[in-house]
Amino acid sequence: MSSTEREQRLEFLGLTPRDVQSLKALRPLFEKHIIAIEDAFYQELLAFPETARLLRDHSTVERLKKLQRDYLMRITDGRFDDAYFEDRLRIGKTHERVGLSPCWYLLGYNIYFKLFVPLIRGFFANDPDCAYESIVALEKVFMLDASLAMDAYIASDRYRHLQQLESIVNDSADVIFALDAENRIRSWNRAAERVFGWRAEEILGKPLAMLVPPEVLKMGELQRIENDIARDGHCHLETVRLARDGGRVPVEVSVSLLRDPQEHSIGRSAILRDITERKRLEEDNLRAERLAVIGAMSARLAHEIRNPLSSITLNIDLVGDEIEMLAKERAGAADEARSLLRSIDSEVRRIQRVTEDYLQFARMPKPRRARISLNEAISQGISFMDSLFAATGVRVETDLNDSLPAIDGDEGQLWQAVLNLVRNAIEAMPNGGTLTLRTARVRSGVSLTIADTGKGMTEEERQQIFKPFFSTKPSGTGLGLPLVQQVVAEHGGTIRCESAPGHGTTFIIELPCAEESIHAPKS
Ligand code: HEM
Repeated sequence: MSSTEREQRLEFLGLTPRDVQSLKALRPLFEKHIIAIEDAFYQELLAFPETARLLRDHSTVERLKKLQRDYLMRITDGRFDDAYFEDRLRIGKTHERVGLSPCWYLLGYNIYFKLFVPLIRGFFANDPDCAYESIVALEKVFMLDASLAMDAYIASDRYRHLQQLESIVNDSADVIFALDAENRIRSWNRAAERVFGWRAEEILGKPLAMLVPPEVLKMGELQRIENDIARDGHCHLETVRLARDGGRVPVEVSVSLLRDPQEHSIGRSAILRDITERKRLEEDNLRAERLAVIGAMSARLAHEIRNPLSSITLNIDLVGDEIEMLAKERAGAADEARSLLRSIDSEVRRIQRVTEDYLQFARMPKPRRARISLNEAISQGISFMDSLFAATGVRVETDLNDSLPAIDGDEGQLWQAVLNLVRNAIEAMPNGGTLTLRTARVRSGVSLTIADTGKGMTEEERQQIFKPFFSTKPSGTGLGLPLVQQVVAEHGGTIRCESAPGHGTTFIIELPCAEESIHAPKS
């Protein structure tokens, strides 16, 4: 530290020549009480586990008492020269080196102050002004020594290292937190706040179980983690955790033992990586692969079945003609044959429908995009279905947003998707009901909502409806909704479904709008 810096420090603390005189005047008091002060000082330090662990044995304490005495007596010299500053910096470095955290070091000054103030008051009992001035001077010198010790701490490699560690933990993209021996959360980094929605001050001290979904808790996952840690000292797994809003977050977890400097276990450290995006991509890939296989299989199957089916249909027609001829000869004889033939015919038609579904799925070409108005496509399509709605007792309500921007899409494919959803809606309302089609502007582009007032679905069913071959209808192929989802995905959009038994079903499709429409005025 340069001489100017030294001067500045003294000036900053307001240490004047008058203070120096006050400190010198304290010398007889220090000499008289120094032994008692040191005894009391170390007795206090032995009462805190954090400080007691550094005062290993009686001989260490006795050695330190001697060093402290020299330290204190030097204050009453009142010489704040180069050597004084160097000595105080060295003392700071020593404490930093032994691993005493700065806050515990500063506690030392607190203790000294508590011990000295009553002694000084007693010493200057007849001169309160003098007592006051000495107390202030002592406080200034303690502050000087403390500030020099803090300089030493801050300049140390270890302290910088600790700060770096803190930054690594805090700025990590992964969630990092520590647990105490009772599985309570003791630290919580920024990524944890972002992923789980709890701020550190809200969750510190709370049990780990708050982050574990009840169904996972019930399966004994925490116990399994403990068993692994007991065996290997760490544990890695993929699981789900609970966010503040109740959402499930898929995570990769790594839990390890947390130890104190004496190697005693004091809890656990946990690193969690949010793998929501990875899971979504995995699911998308799996779905795409599955759909590709189904596509290829369906094309083959449908092709193989199609030809024999048309010859069966043709033969049914011919047999029908034969039966009619026989019937002319003997009235009544053909009644049973007719009814059997009708049922064969209806079954064959069903197979034909299924085959067409498969073929449609397998042959879906890449969309041929053009600038289209979703509102117009819907109004036109719906207008052709009036008779079907009338026959099924379904009332249609449309609420099409006038200022809906255009989209780039394949009108044929999009209508096919909407039609599938409308057909499903009609089937969900066997006793009639209301079908609502609504378009709106949303942040990501446009949205189309198709809602029915039908029987709705259970949560279990809702989660599976986009899986190929899953169907809630006895004669469904389970390919309708995957097809809808594929069309929407090919258009860069998303589809989601909300439903509850007895409360109808709502599909919400969101599609990006055409490039130029993004900044177009809302007119
Ligand atoms: C007012 C605050 C404190 C002052 C002025 C002070 C003063 C000193 C001095 C003068 C030394 C000798 C250092 C050297 O010559 O390099 C020392 C060493 C030491 N102090 Fe303190 N101390 C303070 C607080 C504490 C506290 C709170 C602890 C906690 C236990 C502590 C533990 C130690 C230890 C373990 C050493 C010995 C380091 C070694 O083995 O060399 N000190 N202290």
